[in-house]
Amino acid sequence: PKDPLVLFMPSGKRGRFPVGTNLLEAARSLGVHVESVCGGRATCGRCQVDLQQGHFAKFGILSSCDHISARSDREERYDRLRGLPEGRRLSCSATIQGDLVVDVPQDTVINAQVVRKAAGDRVIERSPAVRLCYVEVEPPDMARPLGDLDRLKAMLARDWHIPDPAVPLRLLPQVQKLLRQGAWGVTAAIHQDEDGGRPEILALWPGLHNAAYGIACDIGSTTIALHLVSLLSGRVVASAGAPNPQIRFGEDLMSRVSYVMMNPDGREAMTAAVREAVNGLIGRVCAESGVAPQDILDAVFVANPIMHHLFLGIDPTELGQAPFALAVSGAVHTTTAELGLAANPGARAYLLPCVAGHVGADAAGATLAEGPHRQDRMMLLVDIGTNAEIVLGHAGRVVAASSPTGPAFEGAEISSGQRAAPGAIERVRIDPETLEPRFRIIGSDRWSDEPGFAADAARLGITGLCGSAIIEVVAEMYLSGIVSAEGVIDGSLAARNPRIAANGRTFSYLLHEGSPRIAITQNDLRAVQLAKAALYAGIRLLMEKQGVAAVDCIRLAGAFGSLIDPKYAMVLGLIPDCALSEVRAVGNAAGTGAMMALLNRDHRREIETTVQRIEKIETALEPHFQQLFVDAMALPHRTDPFPHLAE
Ligand code: FES
Repeated sequence: PKDPLVLFMPSGKRGRFPVGTNLLEAARSLGVHVESVCGGRATCGRCQVDLQQGHFAKFGILSSCDHISARSDREERYDRLRGLPEGRRLSCSATIQGDLVVDVPQDTVINAQVVRKAAGDRVIERSPAVRLCYVEVEPPDMARPLGDLDRLKAMLARDWHIPDPAVPLRLLPQVQKLLRQGAWGVTAAIHQDEDGGRPEILALWPGLHNAAYGIACDIGSTTIALHLVSLLSGRVVASAGAPNPQIRFGEDLMSRVSYVMMNPDGREAMTAAVREAVNGLIGRVCAESGVAPQDILDAVFVANPIMHHLFLGIDPTELGQAPFALAVSGAVHTTTAELGLAANPGARAYLLPCVAGHVGADAAGATLAEGPHRQDRMMLLVDIGTNAEIVLGHAGRVVAASSPTGPAFEGAEISSGQRAAPGAIERVRIDPETLEPRFRIIGSDRWSDEPGFAADAARLGITGLCGSAIIEVVAEMYLSGIVSAEGVIDGSLAARNPRIAANGRTFSYLLHEGSPRIAITQNDLRAVQLAKAALYAGIRLLMEKQGVAAVDCIRLAGAFGSLIDPKYAMVLGLIPDCALSEVRAVGNAAGTGAMMALLNRDHRREIETTVQRIEKIETALEPHFQQLFVDAMALPHRTDPFPHLAE
């Protein structure tokens, strides 16, 4: 008869094992990551699995509770002391007795998020760069004068197959005390970023220490977002965000570079400000979750190139001018101590690689999360900020560029523009017959022509137009004929509706009368056209490099991408034609990529090799770019067809 077949879910990995094989070892041999801190002593409870019972016809498996060994004394003891949920088993204490289907409980938050977002619905398995290993060290013996640390290392080699880890000097003075405090039991935090790389002991605790956390952080020019994640369960235990305090040195990236150039201490001040803000967020997530900063052992960061350099303490001046040289483009491995962050003194830090001078580690993070390089289809990934980062490709080839869209979509350069905030108009519709508008504001769920809106408006105030409304109002003005394909407001319509009114030599469209008065001017239209043409031309250039006339799917990353309606983005010609069902907002994909790199070190290798293979296109160097830009000024485009808009 054949050996029992064991199927691990949700990875779907399966294999045959002789009766009596330890379940944890079976999982490990298939590459299924089941956590263990105590080394199979049935004390840490990290190796829990769920047994699924029933007939799984597809795999020819009948899984039942008598196909697993009965609970051992150790497991009973764990249940008495700590409690095991119904149906749960400690895989380190169970052996295989017959065919089994075993569920490895998955990370509750991040996994749900990553599975949804990652291409092909892949399950992200945990395999972090830092893990905890408990060992029981032999007491000293005068006949064998081996040092305490050396006996500890011998146990790490024997029980955890960790040969000769590096030990920082910082830990040596603590070893003897810790071993005696823990009655010769000690937990070591081991960092090993790469198979075959030399492991290092980051920290030691007396006895069993059962908590290890990491942070995943996206340093945006406007907002910093940080998640605290359990490295043992993969669960996101707390999240926090804050404005990037560097805003006080300059609103946008280039003004921050100028600040560094003009002020002798400018770089230092901005580095200190961003690190302080990250520390503030660490303090907040720790307070909220009750996690001690000492238990933070790893940190992963993504950022655009200028934020990346300032965070690392590198002068970003070179990034402000051609040829936009990065001081470092590869992944950066460092420590939180060197970055001045509050965490365990041994904690590591990792920054994803930058793609190019304008396409940063944030684009690398978004690429890792969305995975154009894992697709058969041609995927367009766009993160729209003052600089749009554009990635286009499939498994065979990925190209990337950035395009200077400017701050129009963030509300700057638009007469009534503002950042998204309560009171800002976010949605706009214009009746093509009457040319009368209706709109919605952030903080209210009513349209402006619905009962109750006036009360909401009085409470919130109607303050201006946020980015999504800027796109919608221009698209609606075009659809209702107020604006021509060339982007000119048709003054002859003033006779039909007084909202269209002369404004010097040009015309404007009045969206909201009152204080403030909100109108769309010809200058506003020009600013939107310039911004959207820059983005579209960048995308079009990459499409030409790929030799395609259309893309199969579009992913809009970033806060702005989550707010805009794909239909209006297409009406405006911000993005190329595509089936609307294939256009999706993916939120903070860069942050998701940071979490993936935190929870699975293989993702670090994946993005490092992918970034090396991405072809970087510098739009400024392409003589053709100017023509693409001019063609893209028209709504939606001078020549490109948009067949999906007609549907
Ligand atoms: Fe620690 Fe099973 S490995 S309880």
